[in-house]
Amino acid sequence: MRLRAIVVITFTLIATISDLAGKGQTDKKVQNEHLTKKNPFARGDKSAFERGEYIYSRKCVKCHGEKGDGTGSILEGVKVPVFNNGYFSEKEDGHVFRIVEQGLPDTLMPSFGPGSDDILSAGDIWKLIVFMRRRFGEKIPYEYLAKKSPFARGDKSALERGEYIYSRKCVKCHGEKGDGAGSILKGVKMPVFNNGYFSEKEDGQVFWIVEHGLSGTLMPSYGPGSDDILSADDVWKVIVFMRTRFGEKIPYEYLAKKNPFARSDKSALGRGEYIYSRKCVKCHGEKGDGTGSILKGIKMPVFNKEYFSKKEDGYIFWIIEQGLPDTLMSSFGPGSAEVLSSDDIWKTIAFTHDKFGK
Ligand code: HEC
Ligand code: HEC
Ligand code: HEC
Repeated sequence: MRLRAIVVITFTLIATISDLAGKGQTDKKVQNEHLTKKNPFARGDKSAFERGEYIYSRKCVKCHGEKGDGTGSILEGVKVPVFNNGYFSEKEDGHVFRIVEQGLPDTLMPSFGPGSDDILSAGDIWKLIVFMRRRFGEKIPYEYLAKKSPFARGDKSALERGEYIYSRKCVKCHGEKGDGAGSILKGVKMPVFNNGYFSEKEDGQVFWIVEHGLSGTLMPSYGPGSDDILSADDVWKVIVFMRTRFGEKIPYEYLAKKNPFARSDKSALGRGEYIYSRKCVKCHGEKGDGTGSILKGIKMPVFNKEYFSKKEDGYIFWIIEQGLPDTLMSSFGPGSAEVLSSDDIWKTIAFTHDKFGK
């Protein structure tokens, strides 16, 4: 009799637990769908930032405070989140979006989604997130975004000094390959410094992060007032090094290479045009800016006057020969599926430079 009762109870429990597990799974699914939502506004979008700031000051500041940590808020003694870099490096934009849209039941965090008393459009919620992430998370001032490195990419002595600093100060956490592998920090989410990373970030942003550190994370500050100060020049040099080693991965000697074909060489231009139309146009487009390409929604470089004034022919040669790891830009060098001779690569460069770079 007692045994029977235990068996029944056990079954009921199992049924309940698997019920709960099932519910957990659907909850997770809904949550995951939100997590993959991407913010349609770029982090550097100034007008989105300003609109977000306005909304925050009207709707959020009274509870979350000017500093995003709840200080000075009307909710004395109520636990509110601390919005800092740690918060924004852990939470996807989609997560924050969902909370603002739906609120947090049984807490004072109201809903701002459809059906609430105080509706914000989806666009406004995304703009709020742009604002909050930048103001409380990265806190990078605009003027930093525009800062340019005083050291050229091919500057060998800057590269060597940068490498030395990286090996002394950064490698223990960021690893030899710049992806955190082999680091002393086990289980900590680390950035992956690769071409994708450096094509999204301005040097000025990286400079700011190294100078200020990232609050709420293990990334220390190396700016004035920190325990381990690097001069501004040294910070720039470590960035030149990281960009070259982990991003473009260009060997020094390539940057100095010169195109053996002049842009007045009609036959070279003709051959280059032929190759571009056969091998490149489908992705880079007729205008060299990616429009009309088969790749929808992928950020493409714009080959124009500015592009060719910034990038050395040797750099472009290297990219065509090696491709860009972790992107759709494949390699056309020896050993690749679609080998172009060195001469053909130079001719393609002469053509694109002549056609798009005027
Ligand atoms: C009436 C006060 C109040 C207002 C107004 C308010 N919040 Fe909140 N919010 C809270 C409280 C309290 C919490 C913490 C709830 C908890 O977890 O206990 C919270 C939590 C949050 C969280 C969740 C943090 C996390 O991941 O745990 C986000 C995001 C957030 N608020 C954003 C906003 C934004 C954006 C606005 C303005 C559009 C806003 N809140 C307006 C009180 C408020
Ligand atoms: C004690 C470990 C540690 C050391 C030392 C360290 N970092 Fe970091 N760094 C981190 C962690 C952890 C993160 C990720 C923080 C986050 O977003 O959660 C990070 C993030 C960064 C980022 C920002 C990546 C992004 O999200 O855009 C940059 C840039 C960076 N580190 C550069 C450096 C440089 C350069 C050095 C050496 C001068 C250095 N770090 C030294 C731990 C470290
Ligand atoms: C399958 C599509 C595809 C093809 C084919 C292709 N590219 Fe690309 N290419 C890309 C993408 C995508 C990028 C941007 C990668 C990134 O930085 O995220 C790129 C980047 C580049 C860049 C680097 C721009 C920069 O400075 O960041 C150069 C130069 C380039 N391509 C030249 C060529 C040439 C020349 C050809 C033809 C021989 C070619 N590509 C063929 C997709 C393609």
